[in-house]
Amino acid sequence: MKALITAGGHGTRLRPITYTTNKHLVPIANKPMIHYALEKIADTGIKEVGIVINAGDVIFPKKIGDGSKWNLSITYIEQPGGPLGLAHVIKIAEDFIGKDSFIFYLGDNIILNDIKPFVEKFEKEKLNCLLALSKVKDPQRFGVPEIVDGRIIKVEEKPQSPKSNFAVTGIYVYDYHIFEAVNAIKPSARGELEISDAHQYLLDHNLEVGYSEITGWWKDTGKPIDLLEGNQLILNYTETKIDGEVDQRVAIQGKVKIGKGTRIIGNSVVRGPVAIGENCVIKDSYIGPFTAIGDRVEIYGTEIENSIIFEDADINCNKRITDSLIGVNATITPVHETLPSGHKLLVGDNSFIEL
Ligand code: TTP
Repeated sequence: MKALITAGGHGTRLRPITYTTNKHLVPIANKPMIHYALEKIADTGIKEVGIVINAGDVIFPKKIGDGSKWNLSITYIEQPGGPLGLAHVIKIAEDFIGKDSFIFYLGDNIILNDIKPFVEKFEKEKLNCLLALSKVKDPQRFGVPEIVDGRIIKVEEKPQSPKSNFAVTGIYVYDYHIFEAVNAIKPSARGELEISDAHQYLLDHNLEVGYSEITGWWKDTGKPIDLLEGNQLILNYTETKIDGEVDQRVAIQGKVKIGKGTRIIGNSVVRGPVAIGENCVIKDSYIGPFTAIGDRVEIYGTEIENSIIFEDADINCNKRITDSLIGVNATITPVHETLPSGHKLLVGDNSFIEL
């Protein structure tokens, strides 16, 4: 069995972050999002992984490498013509997959539990397709299965009146029949080859479409709020590890990870779960629960909670920052530093600021 992971797409909902960073490289609990997908795949014992990226993306392969770090062998596949849909991703990977069965894993999904049971069920029940489902409060946002007598009879994309409270998540297992489906379906009204249409094709052609329910948490990290929630879910599993230097006056509470070369000084409090990267300086500041801080960040006289601070950011603002994403190399300074006073903003397109 092989694996196919998505790492392309538009990432519109995460702009402006995704103007400069591939969504799948955005850090969650100080690790690029895609690492979680690769770890889950590696745990199944699969070795050969294809990662689909946007055409011309040279940074992603450079950052992730050949997979040896996870004992995987990674082949990068560029999606020609732009992000033309999830079924299009599968279509262009046909040469790589060949006649093998494969796990299709959307690289912006994170999941608590092992995915190996899905593969086992797929093999044991000789399915042509297995969909991992998760109960959600807002099925209208997802592909939704209609289940009758324990069998999926229909899958609808973003239905107004969902037939179940399950979402089809971004983890699937297929055999080669999926290529018949993705080659037969036509683009939808939004011009994409829809994965739900491919699933419906399998159902219409009497192929075996089974499902497993995801029992632990599962998160599709498409929006800023989802990233913060994903960050919370992962930080919950942080173990205390202090490799940096912590002043005697500093209070460290709960589970806190502090990287090498980082100094926490002055009148500071760090209340976990928190992950702080390497070579940071944190002075006279409060770092509250569910905050992840990347490498080389400097924070002075600021309170931060439930936020993701990307590497090289510089924050010194005498304010309380909460529920925020602060991009690479961003600077936040106090209002009185330069005259005339007032909030001076250099804000990228599609940014969101609450003053
Ligand atoms: P989506 O989250 O549906 O889309 P997106 O990442 O483009 O984001 P947005 O809706 O905010 O614009 O994509 C799910 C996953 O599939 C994600 O990993 C990106 C990837 N993808 C591709 O690689 N190629 C594609 O053609 C599409 C549509 C998505």
